[in-house]
Amino acid sequence: MRKIDIFDTTLRDGEQSAGVNLNTAEKLEIAKQLERFGVDVMEAGFPAASPGDLDAVRQIASTIRNSSVTGLARSVKSDIDAAWEALKVAECPRLHVFIATSPIHMTYKLKQTPEQVVETAVESIKYAKQFFPIVQWSAEDAFRSDPAFLAHIVEQAIKAGASVINLPDTVGYATPHEYGAMFKYMKDNVPNVDQVKLSSHCHNDLGMAVANTLAAIENGADQVEGTINGLGERAGNAALEEVGVALYTRKDAYKVQTNLTLNEIKRTSQLVSQLTGMAIQANKAIVGKNAFAHESGIHQDGVLKEPTTYEIITPELIGEESNNLVLGKHSGRHAFNDRAKSMGFQLDKEALNQAFKEFKQLADRKKEITSEDLWTILTQQQLKDEDAVVYELESVQVHYGTEDSPMATARVKVPDGTIQEDACNGAGSVEAIFNTLERIIDGKVHVLDYRVSSIGKGRDALGEAVINLTFNGDEFTGRGAAQDVLEASAKAYLNAINRSLLQSRMKQLISTTV
Ligand code: KIV
Ligand code: ZN
Repeated sequence: MRKIDIFDTTLRDGEQSAGVNLNTAEKLEIAKQLERFGVDVMEAGFPAASPGDLDAVRQIASTIRNSSVTGLARSVKSDIDAAWEALKVAECPRLHVFIATSPIHMTYKLKQTPEQVVETAVESIKYAKQFFPIVQWSAEDAFRSDPAFLAHIVEQAIKAGASVINLPDTVGYATPHEYGAMFKYMKDNVPNVDQVKLSSHCHNDLGMAVANTLAAIENGADQVEGTINGLGERAGNAALEEVGVALYTRKDAYKVQTNLTLNEIKRTSQLVSQLTGMAIQANKAIVGKNAFAHESGIHQDGVLKEPTTYEIITPELIGEESNNLVLGKHSGRHAFNDRAKSMGFQLDKEALNQAFKEFKQLADRKKEITSEDLWTILTQQQLKDEDAVVYELESVQVHYGTEDSPMATARVKVPDGTIQEDACNGAGSVEAIFNTLERIIDGKVHVLDYRVSSIGKGRDALGEAVINLTFNGDEFTGRGAAQDVLEASAKAYLNAINRSLLQSRMKQLISTTV
């Protein structure tokens, strides 16, 4: 069967989702999980965007060995230089360079004639080839480009040394039939097309990104690009978990294979959701929490008699554990450590001890500890940066009555190591907490968005809060989990502040070492 390369861009196009802001440690965690998931290529970022992005791409490139790591560059030497700086440590350095080819983009954005665009594309590929063994070239807004011009520039890009040609539907405008036809047109009209792999890159503005991706495969694409959970600019990119499971389940129709390890899907999706703070809609295909829930009596009856009556894929296929109860109050350190290892966590002794302590505290309050609870506890430890300048929640209390204005009191460890306590009221309990914390924090905070959800099922499930705020003008996302949603909210608030402080510290560090 024909092999399709999977190109993941969660850390680049996915990170361009509004409100998503990952730090280097989080990007590295996602990169390692993408490697376990078996993606062929991962786009780790846009090195020229900032020194922090460059550093994150470099760290990923020097860590990941089983997937090829790439970075994005515009068709300018300084971007390609920055990408080389970040990627030269990679096993097989690979560049992704792009320029727009549609009349709208060339006229209004680039202000270049089509001839100038061809020249810029060819020059940038030739320049990049001096450093990178593999250069992927993208025609931004390919789908809205003139087909004859697109075929011409693709031919020139191949002559200049590109070995992968990516044809994005940048604005998510194509129908599956039209997007497939563009690939067929290239196959029929670009004389040297057999020297390269053609790649799809679909946005989801009209909800057709996955269908368009599959149409590209049917018409000769050898590589498909997408993100986990369909993250990405605006309505996002093609969801790779959906593409992977569709190709597997309907191999009779598509007759292709991938290197993906499908039973890593659930874990990858959860990690990305947790670290980006982007919740997964309950009815989302493959990874939504209702994806395998049979609600109607007729369906339940059918599934009990014969699962295939209503189930075309199983939870096990994507790594969803059927027995979700994993550990209890009486589980010992040994069982806990084993479980952490089997879930793929590699924590040092101190982090493991701390995680075990938190597990015990939770087990005292909660009857059943599920894999989702463990996942939350272990991920938090894995990402803890000991040296970070942190505000740490010592305690929070809220006095609430239907007749009174809620009043919160919080004790917080501040960056100089002392404990500060303050109190404030608010229109609701959460606002009272945020107002109190704002009095303790040194800086201007403005909350943009806030939501709470439960991790796992049951009335005693852990609560998770995600907050979007600006701190001294910059936007950050914070997360917090606790058995009580008020405590989770306070933690999420401080987490966003800490992330902002950590990022400024990183920027300072990078600017003094560069
Ligand atoms: O959507 C797009 O066109 C892109 C390119 C930079 C590849 O993301
Ligand atoms: Zn894109």
